[in-house]
Amino acid sequence: MTMPTIFTPHEVRKYYQQENVAQQYVKRRFHDPLNQVEHQRQVSLLNAIIAQLKPQKVLEFAPGPARLTTELQIFGGTSIDASEKMIEIARQRMKQKNKQWTFLHADLFSSNLKLKQKFDLIFTFRFLLHFQEPQRRKIYQQAHRALNDKGYLVFEAMNKEVVLPLRKILGKKRYFVYDHLYQKRQLINELNENGFQVIKLYPVLSHFRIQAVLSRPFKILGMHTFAQRLIKKGEHFPSDQPYEWIVLCQKK
Ligand SMILES: C[S@@+](CC[C@H](N)C(=O)[O-])C[C@H]1O[C@@H](n2cnc3c(N)ncnc32)[C@H](O)[C@@H]1O
Repeated sequence: MTMPTIFTPHEVRKYYQQENVAQQYVKRRFHDPLNQVEHQRQVSLLNAIIAQLKPQKVLEFAPGPARLTTELQIFGGTSIDASEKMIEIARQRMKQKNKQWTFLHADLFSSNLKLKQKFDLIFTFRFLLHFQEPQRRKIYQQAHRALNDKGYLVFEAMNKEVVLPLRKILGKKRYFVYDHLYQKRQLINELNENGFQVIKLYPVLSHFRIQAVLSRPFKILGMHTFAQRLIKKGEHFPSDQPYEWIVLCQKK
């Protein structure tokens, strides 16, 4: 049975508030060798951006179970999420790693969201992409309000050229939460229109189709580490058509 696509802010929020979805999120979404390399690339790029920009105050929108937050090489920050279960898991995972962090339970679409301070860098992954243009605009506005002048926004954008053909093959059954896919020009224009200037697009999974085909036999044989090594080799050769970009943009 095909599930209807989940795409309104209300549906997305409700979906991630379910206990089983929160519990299984990292295991389900980041088990595959390709997704593990995607995760590792996101972590290393985010840490490289932070090391370069040295933001004093960092805010995360929608941390989920702190998949990325636990890996960050910074001392302290704040994350906002609408799922109490996700926050509970995130707090546990940060505690296990002995990391200081503040988690706030709030709806990022709320116009009443009041933050006590402004931030130098906001990052958000696997959140913005779940929404259509009018809703993305609200999140950009929320980020714009929460940032200091010339502050930075970092998030991932999936490349329509590469991801759409794959989604057509795999179908709605697997990807029932809406994901927006971007063309590069559209992404740059959208950010411009919403008060951000793109500074850099970092490619992730640069040769997705080849990486998927070459790693598949090893994945089937359960040789996940070897499959990951093979996929990582492809990352040494950046391309114009990766699976996704990590977007670094600055408040205008
Ligand atoms: C796909 S998870 C992303 C988790 C993490 N950032 C990652 O990259 O793995 C989406 C997160 O967005 C949160 N979320 C959904 N709607 C929200 C809203 N309106 N306000 C705040 N958080 C929301 C969910 O609770 C969930 O934790």
